[in-house]
Amino acid sequence: MAHLIDSHCHLDFPDFDADRDEMLSRARARGIGGFITINTRVRRFAAVQAIAAAHPDVFCTVGTHPHNAAEEADVSLEDILEAARDPQVVGIGEAGLDYHYDRAPRDVQEAVFRTHIEAARRTGLPLVIHSREAEEDTARILEDEMGKGAFTAVLHCFSSRPELAWRGVEIGLFVSFSGIVTFKKSDELRELAKALPEDRLLVETDAPYLAPVPNRGRRNEPGYVRDTAEVIAEVRGVALRELAEVTTRNALGLFSRMPVQAVGSVSGAVEI
Ligand code: NI
Repeated sequence: MAHLIDSHCHLDFPDFDADRDEMLSRARARGIGGFITINTRVRRFAAVQAIAAAHPDVFCTVGTHPHNAAEEADVSLEDILEAARDPQVVGIGEAGLDYHYDRAPRDVQEAVFRTHIEAARRTGLPLVIHSREAEEDTARILEDEMGKGAFTAVLHCFSSRPELAWRGVEIGLFVSFSGIVTFKKSDELRELAKALPEDRLLVETDAPYLAPVPNRGRRNEPGYVRDTAEVIAEVRGVALRELAEVTTRNALGLFSRMPVQAVGSVSGAVEI
């Protein structure tokens, strides 16, 4: 018996204003026992903090998404460290590089990314990494920073070339799969999900984005992480229950500030 954890969702987004609580109930009824709501602007940290405070099975992170790196270039390391003192904060980020949209200059994205790495190192909390079409620079920065002092991290919503995942695993990172792994054309990603060592695997929704099949194209919600887990279980040739046990153990090992007892603690949370 096991619960799944949605290791990356954005519960504060307005997409969920009408039915946030009902949506969490629906997820619990599908076997999801824990949720990590990911901050994208340090200045809006209070929103994720409030959602975590309202639900004993919801935790949060603090950080600046690369899309917002320019507008938060003045957010200091101390600002992040201060927010991270809240015990509901289980990670730093999401931070990283996004060269697909390039919404902030690349040098600013890199500087903000490195500040978040330092915050992860100082707090001992894992860094949630967003990397899109930026494989080489992401690997270069991570390897460089790892050489300066250890930190833990996850490559979230992994959709890059497999080489980045393997370079990440080489330096101790985790790899998290979203609904993209269920898409028809994602053969390369499914091959990777099959090949990676089981102790590196996480699952997430990245809701409200990227709903897995069979809800592709609709608003995503945390309950759908089960559909992503089912596809990964299938390619790895294991039962869903086993995949849930493995990924939840990994999530609790990485996001170690999240108490084990919190998972499945809210009534209505079924096991798989
Ligand atoms: Ni995200």
